[in-house]
Amino acid sequence: MVVLSRPSRRTNLALLLLLAGAFVTGWLAFGVEGAPASRAVSVLHGVVGLGILVLAPWKTVIVRRGLRRRRRHALAVAFAVVVAVCLLAGVAHATLGPLEVAGVSALDVHVASAVAAVPLALLHVVRRPQRARASDLSRRTALRAIAVGGAAALGYGTLESVTSVARLPGAHRRATGSYEVGSGAPSAMPVTQWFTDRVPRIDVGAYELLVSRPDEPTLRIAYGELLAMTGTTRSAVLDCTGGWWAEQTWRAVRLDTLLGTSGYGSIAVRSVTGYTRLFPAEDASALLLATHVGGAPLSAGHGGPVRLVAPGRRGFWWVKWVERVSVEPRPWWLQSPFPLQ
Ligand code: HEM
Ligand code: HEM
Repeated sequence: MVVLSRPSRRTNLALLLLLAGAFVTGWLAFGVEGAPASRAVSVLHGVVGLGILVLAPWKTVIVRRGLRRRRRHALAVAFAVVVAVCLLAGVAHATLGPLEVAGVSALDVHVASAVAAVPLALLHVVRRPQRARASDLSRRTALRAIAVGGAAALGYGTLESVTSVARLPGAHRRATGSYEVGSGAPSAMPVTQWFTDRVPRIDVGAYELLVSRPDEPTLRIAYGELLAMTGTTRSAVLDCTGGWWAEQTWRAVRLDTLLGTSGYGSIAVRSVTGYTRLFPAEDASALLLATHVGGAPLSAGHGGPVRLVAPGRRGFWWVKWVERVSVEPRPWWLQSPFPLQ
């Protein structure tokens, strides 16, 4: 067992808390939409992430000592590289804008490196256990935590000020951290889907929407019939977790027109690819099935022939290529917070 002086152990424990905090708030930032909450989560995420940088000088001392003491440190070095890439990509996205190289964005790199850091972090920590002690809950630790938090907040504030004064693209990002692309011009909107999903080929002539309500036979609505029902025109912001947002006008039919208002269980919206999200039953009047965007039929990439419009929710809720809408007995929260399929 490695014996370390107290400050090293506390630095490592603080890093553990910051890593876990950054990971959790990162996913929260992906889940939340709407000004005060998403701004608060993004700021918290940035401050917690930058806290890791604040501790870098102390960690450097530990790293130097570890590299001298231990023989096998390839995984620890890989871990350090992955965390550094994650931090760099996060800051690059927040300041320099929606950077993209060969179809891969800074935000993609940020999230992928954060996910890759998890097994490396687990291995690192399991092999170098750092036990918390009751004496860690002291006034001194609290003051240190406040100092680290303050320095991280100062770092965040400085980055934001520089971004704004230098008029970097980051000054124009939304509270969620997303950048505006193609509002009012759907063809300029990026084509992105959940990383497990692919754009399917759908024959509009043969397409039928399946509508299932409890105790009733399933309705089959052909595309032409659905077009006759899409009388609502609604402007809504699609804010994708890929890091972009766009406001468009959608021609659609409200889900309560198709499903009624049962207030029972949840509403399941399923794509021809199997991608499914569950919604609270009471959202039926707020959710829409769209056939058109900006006055033109939806392209395959943007979810044609029929996609869900879920105002106030992040892009992964806006199920594309909808095949079936149904009322389900299970509650909407009985699903993975982020799609797994
Ligand atoms: C930002 C996160 C972290 C990075 C990038 C990082 C990276 C490193 C590197 C490169 C070393 C030196 C090589 C080695 O010892 O094999 C090291 C040493 C060490 N790390 Fe980390 N680490 C991080 C977080 C943590 C955490 C959360 C813990 C435990 C709670 C921890 C515990 C240790 C210990 C005890 C050593 C010293 C080993 C020795 O002296 O023999 N580290 N770390
Ligand atoms: C160890 C894990 C992570 C660390 C250390 C980290 C750190 C950071 C940092 C330092 C920033 C820049 C903040 C700024 O200057 O505004 C950032 C931005 C961001 N991160 Fe992370 N992050 C991590 C994981 C994640 C995960 C898992 C997600 C999403 C699933 C995520 C989503 C975001 C988003 C959306 C932004 C942009 C926020 C904005 O522009 O205000 N992060 N992250």
